[in-house]
Amino acid sequence: MADSGHNDNIYHAEYSNYSTSNKEETLEQLNDSYRGLVAGQDNLVCNLANASSLLWYAYKNLGINVNWAGFYITKKDNDQKLILGPFQGKVACQEIQFGSGVCGTAALNQQTEVVSDVSKFPGHIPCDGETKSEIVVPIILNNKTVALIDIDCLDYDAFGDVDRRYLEELASLIVETCKF
Ligand code: SME
Repeated sequence: MADSGHNDNIYHAEYSNYSTSNKEETLEQLNDSYRGLVAGQDNLVCNLANASSLLWYAYKNLGINVNWAGFYITKKDNDQKLILGPFQGKVACQEIQFGSGVCGTAALNQQTEVVSDVSKFPGHIPCDGETKSEIVVPIILNNKTVALIDIDCLDYDAFGDVDRRYLEELASLIVETCKF
């Protein structure tokens, strides 16, 4: 379905359904669905909003207790500050300084952060006190962090190398397909 590009004959909501419970296949399907959904569309809010839904349902499909999945975007008037972008989950903090918390650290270092226990991460920003583990993937354009992917989980040690690989691929797809 979603791997052959945008298809007007399917309902958009079907992109949020996953046909496998294997993690690699699910995340591959997520990235294929993203490619299909954004064909002919480069609006940042629109594409990140749909990407949030794809992420949310991908992890739900895997039985992983994700409680937040979404994006922070570098502010236009301050390139050292992130502002809350499209997401799924509970209300979250609006602004994060580069260098602060997991998100700010990934944004500053331009490196993915995989945190198995957020209570052990210096400066972790507890938007939700229930969160136990987190992955943050920077989205980099022309050597600048322009946004990031952030996913939180209610269980320890939820994310690893497979998540990192596919989410870094998603970050590259977002740079290629969205107007920042
Ligand atoms: N925990 C993050 C803040 C963002 S929320 O998880 C949505 C951090 O420490 O950067």
